[in-house]
Amino acid sequence: MSSLHVTRTLPEDATDAALRADVRDGLTVTPKTLPPKWFYDARGSELFDKITELPEYYPTRAEREILLARAAEIAAASRARTLVELGSGSSEKTRFLLDALTDLHTYVPVDVSESALVQAGQALVEERPDIDVHALIADFTARLTLPDTPGPRLVAFLGGTIGNLLPAERAEFLASVRGLLSPGDALLLGTDLVKDEEVLVRAYDDAAGVTAEFNKNVLAVVNRELGADFDPDAFEHVALWDAGNEWIEMRLRSRTAQTVKIPAVDLAVEFAAGEELRTEVSAKFRKEGISAELAAAGLTLTDWWTDPQNRFALSLSTVREH
Ligand SMILES: C[S@@+](CC[C@H](N)C(=O)[O-])C[C@H]1O[C@@H](n2cnc3c(N)ncnc32)[C@H](O)[C@@H]1O
Repeated sequence: MSSLHVTRTLPEDATDAALRADVRDGLTVTPKTLPPKWFYDARGSELFDKITELPEYYPTRAEREILLARAAEIAAASRARTLVELGSGSSEKTRFLLDALTDLHTYVPVDVSESALVQAGQALVEERPDIDVHALIADFTARLTLPDTPGPRLVAFLGGTIGNLLPAERAEFLASVRGLLSPGDALLLGTDLVKDEEVLVRAYDDAAGVTAEFNKNVLAVVNRELGADFDPDAFEHVALWDAGNEWIEMRLRSRTAQTVKIPAVDLAVEFAAGEELRTEVSAKFRKEGISAELAAAGLTLTDWWTDPQNRFALSLSTVREH
């Protein structure tokens, strides 16, 4: 019989301190920014799952198609006994890997969202009594300590979440992932690809307004955690394509001039009418670019698979041999 272990490496007060620091740093500069990890309380995780079902949001469907077609190849190449998944969320697509990895002993989902981790973990121990599930409540941009489980290890980072990191953060992140891998281990990386601007913008500005609600959820998180008085209706959801950086930006545009009080950090934040707060970047990739970024981190891209419409890519990389 398998079991669900949950380990928290993010103490509750550390999360609070990190949110305070991000709010202080991000809302007292121009342009204002907040990191995307603060979307994901229980409501944010639920909204993200709804986004993955929207007709406009192609990345989840495209990545699922690739996983369905390639899980056996990925399993044969990695022969993993431990699957670590960063930013695992609902672990929905991961089931293709869990089924294909016939020697799997332990699954280690890692996420900042405790609700998503526990829900997915509980479902998995029932579905797959043959594997151990060791869930880690942790920030994947901080130094991760993984449980001592049998190798080889496959680290999966799906959903195009790597695109939420800025280039310098990505370099640091990939180097830290390299540090988690030993010879014989591998990284499975999901990257959304550069494509037509209209398709990209629609994926982040759906007709039903679910992404707008997800975007504004960060305001609800700051209200609840830091006693702020953001009025979500006083902000408008904005998604735009930055062609120079090849990334989508999500922003919240203040509809009027307003002052928002954030008592826990002793701030009164002024927004001019039309001023924008950046809440997420979602970089889109090309094979040459991501291959070079992996190489700079000491990883060698060995396989590259796309969906038939070339919208999304999954790549497998191994530790570079010296
Ligand atoms: C875009 S969603 C992708 C979810 C899932 N992997 C998928 O492909 O559908 C990003 C996930 O990463 C988690 N996340 C975001 N930033 C994180 C961080 N810094 N550390 C750990 N998890 C994070 C979120 O809670 C969310 O579950």
